Amino acid sequence: MKVAPNPEPLLTPPAMASAKLRIERVVKTFQNATQTVEALQPMSLDVQEGEYVVLFGPSGCGKSTLLNLVAGFEEPTDGTIFLDGKEVKGPGNDRLMMFQEHALFPWLNVIDNVMYGLKWERAYRFRFRARRKRAMELLEMVHLTEFARSSIHELSGGMKQRVALARALAPDPQVLLIDEPFPALDALVRAKLYAQLQDILVRTRKTILSVTHDPHEAACLADRVVVFTARPGRLKTQIQIDLPRPRDINDPQVADYARGIAAELEDTNEEEFGTKP
Ligand SMILES: Nc1ncnc2c1ncn2[C@@H]1O[C@H](COP(=O)(O)OP(=O)(O)OP(=O)(O)O)[C@@H](O)[C@H]1O
Ligand SMILES: [Mg+2]
Repeated sequence: MKVAPNPEPLLTPPAMASAKLRIERVVKTFQNATQTVEALQPMSLDVQEGEYVVLFGPSGCGKSTLLNLVAGFEEPTDGTIFLDGKEVKGPGNDRLMMFQEHALFPWLNVIDNVMYGLKWERAYRFRFRARRKRAMELLEMVHLTEFARSSIHELSGGMKQRVALARALAPDPQVLLIDEPFPALDALVRAKLYAQLQDILVRTRKTILSVTHDPHEAACLADRVVVFTARPGRLKTQIQIDLPRPRDINDPQVADYARGIAAELEDTNEEEFGTKP
């Protein structure tokens, strides 16, 4: 297992052209009438095209904040985010946040939920048939063609997650942002979803930035796990996962990596609570 001994070199990152996504010295501070919350301290990170990076760290360390900044839903207090060398200044269909199941429209059936994501795409705007064809391809990819006409409430949690994934992939975003994609699913469903997600990744070569609290999930899905310190979040270390795909969540090598990732979090918590010299 390769653990970067010192995250500092990332603060002087390599040439800009090489990174799909560049997070450069990004700071985020939230201010309201009564308090100031420093969510992220200068954070620099490069993500390469087709790379799957998982953000991992204690609760409140700024992981979701970073995803929101990359999505363009929030603006950095300082620093800059670049996609293909161009500054990110707001939301765009080149970056898509995969929302959790509650973001599916319950009044639309499965295929209409997937098609909805295409409605505003120039190539599909007045082309109902093309939208439906694309949506069916995506449902095939997530093995849900039989359920195209089902209502959302007729699906299991895992199936809803797959619809959400299909909807997120429909406009063919370059960067997929996923905040805790698979909570509250039973172990078997999760293992299947991980396998499918990896299969989709290999086929579509998406650049993915996702967040999880589960070290096994991180080890199973990521090319690289970025560990944050406790709030205000900074980069603590990075762990490169050098395992072939598809990976099985129950593979002992995945478990080894997961232990290494979890140990980083324990260290962080000890620092936070002052139990470490
Ligand atoms: N819109 C906001 N206004 C004020 N404070 C915010 C806002 N969003 C996040 N914060 C604060 O920023 C800090 C980081 O929050 P964030 O949601 O990014 O953490 P996280 O790492 O995703 O945590 P978790 O693992 O619990 O989801 C927290 O202290 C949170 O209270
Ligand atoms: Mg969060």
